[in-house]
Amino acid sequence: MTVPDPRPAMRVDVVSIFPDYLSPLDLSLIGKARADGLLDVRVHDLRDFTHDRHRTVDDTPYGGGAGMVMKPQPWSEALDHVVAQGHSGAKPRLIVPGPGGQRFTQTLARELAREPWLAFACGRYEGIDERVYDHAREDLGLEVSVVSLGDYVLNGGEVAVLAMVEAVGRLVPGVIGNAESLVEESHEDGLLEYPIYTKPASWNGREVPPVLLSGNHGAIAAWRHEQRRARTAARRPDLLHASHGVDGTDVEITAATPADVPELALLMRACWVQEAVANDTLDIPALHESLDDVRESLETTQTWVARSGGRLVGAVRTVRTEPDGDDWFIGRLCVAPDLQGRGLGRRLLEHAESTAPDGIRTFTLNTGARSADNLRMYKKAGYRLVDVPAPIPGAVTLVKRRRG
Ligand code: ADE
Repeated sequence: MTVPDPRPAMRVDVVSIFPDYLSPLDLSLIGKARADGLLDVRVHDLRDFTHDRHRTVDDTPYGGGAGMVMKPQPWSEALDHVVAQGHSGAKPRLIVPGPGGQRFTQTLARELAREPWLAFACGRYEGIDERVYDHAREDLGLEVSVVSLGDYVLNGGEVAVLAMVEAVGRLVPGVIGNAESLVEESHEDGLLEYPIYTKPASWNGREVPPVLLSGNHGAIAAWRHEQRRARTAARRPDLLHASHGVDGTDVEITAATPADVPELALLMRACWVQEAVANDTLDIPALHESLDDVRESLETTQTWVARSGGRLVGAVRTVRTEPDGDDWFIGRLCVAPDLQGRGLGRRLLEHAESTAPDGIRTFTLNTGARSADNLRMYKKAGYRLVDVPAPIPGAVTLVKRRRG
C-alpha cells in the first residue's frame, strides 16, 4: 500500500477585498486538487487587517491624480500574517497582478508551478502604496513579481489570479491525471494547437479532414504539425520562432554589419564547439575568436549572415585567396545547431559562390577531417578533397572548379 504524501504539492494564499471573487477556485480540476490535498488554497479578506469602523483600505494619492490608492498598513499586516504561517523559514513568492507587470506566459506558469508556495496580492483602485512592495522585499525577504495577464486594464487583480492559479495549478504534478495532455497543448512547445474533430465524420454537410480517418499515423502527425505551424503563422506570427519551419528558403541573407557581431560570435562558438567534439581538438581558430576578432574580420572578408524570423541562424565568410588570384576562399560556414540538416548550409554555400567576382576560377574551403556531415554536404555540392595542407591542424582542404 502506498501512503499518500500528507503535504500539499503547493500552497497558495490570496489576499483580496473581494474573497468571494475567488470562489470558482472550488470548482472543476482546481477544486478537485484542493479536495485531494494537492493544492492548499487560502483566501484572506484584506479588510480583516484594518482597524477602523469602516474597514478602510484606500485613501487619496499624494501628489494628486485620479482615483484612490490602497493603504500600506492593512497590506503590510495581511502579508505579515501570511508569511508568519510558514514553517522552518519557508516563505512564499509574492505575485502582484497588475497591467504594468511582466507578461504572464506559459513559461512563467511553468516557473511558478515549481514554487512550493505562492501568495497573490490583489490590488484594486489605482493600485497599492509602493512602500508595501518595499516592505515585502526588504522586511519580509520575499521575491516580489508584478505580473500582467495582457495589455489591457482589469478592475482588480482577482480575475488575473483566477487565470494564473488555474494555469499554474494544472501544471502541479498530480493535478491533471493525464500528463500527456499537458504536452500536446497550445504554447507548450511554442506552437498553437491543431484543429480537433469528433463524431460524426459528416455534420451538417461539413466533413472531418479525410487524413484523420485514414488510420495513417504518420500522415496524421504530419498534417497536425502543418496545421499548427500554419495556424501559428496566421494568428500569432510573433510566436513563430525561426526554429519552426526553417528549410533554407525562408531565410534572408544579408551582408554582416557590426550590429551582427555579438550574435555572430555566439553562433560561431556554438557551431565550433560541435566541431571540436567531432575532431577531438580545441585547436580550431574559429573557436577562439573574440568579439574584436569577429568585428575586425568584417573588414578583411565579406561576411554574410542568414536570419529567419529575426534570429541569426547562419553565416559564411568569403575572401579572395590572393589579391589578384583566381581562387575564392569560403570560410566559417556555420548553421545554428538546431537547424542543421535542412539545406541552410547548402544555401549559404551557394550564396558564397555566387558572390565571387569575375576572374575567380576555383572555390576553396577547409573543414575538420572528421566532420562527416560537412564533408558529405561539400562533396554533394561538387567539392573534392585535395592534397593541400590545411592551415589548421586536423583539417582538410576541398576545392571546386567554378562552372561556366
Ligand atoms: N489588474 C488590472 N489589470 C490587470 C492585467 N492586465 N493583468 C493582471 N492584473 C491586472
